[in-house]
Amino acid sequence: MTKIVLLEKIHKSAVAHFQNEGFDEVVEIPTALAGNDLISALQDTDVVGIRSGTHLTAEVLKALPKLRSIGCFCIGTNQVDLNTAAMRGIPVFNAPFSNTRSVAELVIAEAILLLRRIPEKNARAHRGKWEKTALGAYEARDKLLGIIGYGNIGSQLGVLAESIGMRVCYYDIESKLPLGNAKPMATLEELLEQADIVSLHVPGGKATELLMDARRLQLMKPSAILINASRGGVVDIDALFEALKEKRLSGAALDVFPAEPKNDKEEFVSPLRGLDNVILTPHIGGSTQEAQENIGREVSDKLVRFLKAGTTRWAVNFPEIPHREKEVRSRILHVHRNEPGVIARMNADFAEMGLNIVAQQLQTRGPIGYAVTDVDAPISQALLSKLCKEPATIRCNLI
Ligand code: NAI
Repeated sequence: MTKIVLLEKIHKSAVAHFQNEGFDEVVEIPTALAGNDLISALQDTDVVGIRSGTHLTAEVLKALPKLRSIGCFCIGTNQVDLNTAAMRGIPVFNAPFSNTRSVAELVIAEAILLLRRIPEKNARAHRGKWEKTALGAYEARDKLLGIIGYGNIGSQLGVLAESIGMRVCYYDIESKLPLGNAKPMATLEELLEQADIVSLHVPGGKATELLMDARRLQLMKPSAILINASRGGVVDIDALFEALKEKRLSGAALDVFPAEPKNDKEEFVSPLRGLDNVILTPHIGGSTQEAQENIGREVSDKLVRFLKAGTTRWAVNFPEIPHREKEVRSRILHVHRNEPGVIARMNADFAEMGLNIVAQQLQTRGPIGYAVTDVDAPISQALLSKLCKEPATIRCNLI
């Protein structure tokens, strides 16, 4: 029986999916665990599901010989020692796309609110000031939305924006298929000069650090709005503060910051606090109930496919083998060190036992090789032991 343990209040959609697929032994633990508590809770566990609060370190992974796969029911996977997991034959899955729509919707909402100057009017109304004026308030219809980074979120945002009558242009370092009537821009500068709303959807990291610096902010129209729900390091916050103070920009919405509090006890510090034409949100672009539900379904589905067919498509640390239904009697999942001769020796073992290979898929990634072999006959314990004893074998399972 396959034992699955889900920590940290993972959405019920995951348990439902496991049970629908015939995996009935699902244990739910509402909190994150650490150290020995974690190790003892996961003894005899085949699959563990975590969110960001449980750290699966090398030490923890080494104490869990039965563990076959890990599901991170979130986007990030930093909480898992991915290399150690791979070297122990454990694929790790996450949910990179489940909250795409949530982020795109937030951006649309913020664009409309800022175009109407609602954050300022709301703040003033709270202070007793009745500012009933159409001055500086605009419809979203026919405004030009400039999307920087036309990936999953950027392209989805473009589709939503067109549905409310906005015009869309985008800039991406890669050539991307435009959806709807979106127009690719040859340069970032061109987009900045023309867009009424600029929304950032690039990855974080060195390559995009301070992408929106003082010089690029200067290129935007004084009536324009900047939205960043990507990563905090992408915008030069001091330069943005200056631009907003000097009215070289009409407003901004930020969901991500160069330094973000680690928990709700820590104070959020930013020069942008107190500016009425700026919407500040605590990195919740993707945080909706629907996204949590999608995450539960997406990750449990990847784990079920792995358990039933050995599929590792979308694994973050492992050679990726696409999904193929198991239509034969036996499928052998063989994880090995990526070195010459392993497959030849393995196939010789099959031949020696009189077994005909119906299909075989091999994929490698760095030091790891992963072979999925289909045989239309029962596999003997003797063959399994032989494959397990092969010096390059990391893990061998029969499904
Ligand atoms: P993605 O990988 O699908 O798309 C990123 C796009 O940016 C790619 O098309 C890439 O070619 C492009 N790109 C990279 N460098 C660029 C540059 N210098 N200039 C222009 N384009 C560039 O990523 P996805 O899923 O759309 O996510 C986008 C961002 O949103 C990421 O930073 C992600 O971490 C963040 N995010 C934020 C959330 C929130 O809660 N605020 C939730 C989910 C994602």
